Amino acid sequence: MKKQEAPDSRIDPEHIPGHIAIIMDGNGRWAERHGKSRSKGHEAGAKNVYEITEACRELGVKTLSLFAFSTENWRRSKKEVDSLFRLMSRYVKRYSDQIQKTDVRLLHMGNLEDLPRETAGDIRECLEQTRNNKAMDVCIALNYGGRQELVDAARRLAGQVKAGNLREEDITEEALEANLYLPQHSEVDLLIRTSGENRISNFMLWQISYAEIIVTPTLWPDFNRSCLNDAIVEYQARNRRFGGRP
Ligand code: FPP
Repeated sequence: MKKQEAPDSRIDPEHIPGHIAIIMDGNGRWAERHGKSRSKGHEAGAKNVYEITEACRELGVKTLSLFAFSTENWRRSKKEVDSLFRLMSRYVKRYSDQIQKTDVRLLHMGNLEDLPRETAGDIRECLEQTRNNKAMDVCIALNYGGRQELVDAARRLAGQVKAGNLREEDITEEALEANLYLPQHSEVDLLIRTSGENRISNFMLWQISYAEIIVTPTLWPDFNRSCLNDAIVEYQARNRRFGGRP
């Protein structure tokens, strides 16, 4: 385990965003800029997942949600998709002891069924191994789509109505929220997207309703602790109104 970094004096430790979500974009462009293959770009991105998880934990962030593979990413070449899943298996295994030691719990959003059996197995093992950890939750969105999550929640509610366990008039925001993949993490405070694209790309559509959004031009493999600190400083300078008046 690395030595903890000195705290950034610009950050108010009393107002750390409880839930940060990150759209980790720009691995491909990073690779291109460095004259490397796309898979090397994803590898640099995977290494950074651990770095930023540690930085968030040290800052006292309670939940970190990471967009690792969308339901739309299947449209990439088979070669790239296969190499991404192999990489995820490798990194989940490589870091599982460290995740355990740092008391981080891994959670998953999406559908693990369509993944290669080995990758799904490695991820399930890590979910099981870390399930009682308490310091921080890391929610990996893998084979995840925000619209699909809402469709799945609607189906569950319909099933409950059909079974006579829920009345139609009891379908409220709270009831829908209770049927999201991870209902305990239904509110994102800060959404960061790297690599300069001003898009949500079907990520946590319900949960980001009142999130502060920060788009940085930095590519994901270059998004280091100091970039994270900059984002938190910017977040803390904003005035969150949740639709009301201050
Ligand atoms: C977007 O970059 C990134 C992805 C589609 C994959 C993200 C995956 C990782 C960072 C690895 C995750 C590993 C673990 C262990 C969770 P891009 O390929 O779209 O980049 P580009 O837009 O520059 O081409």
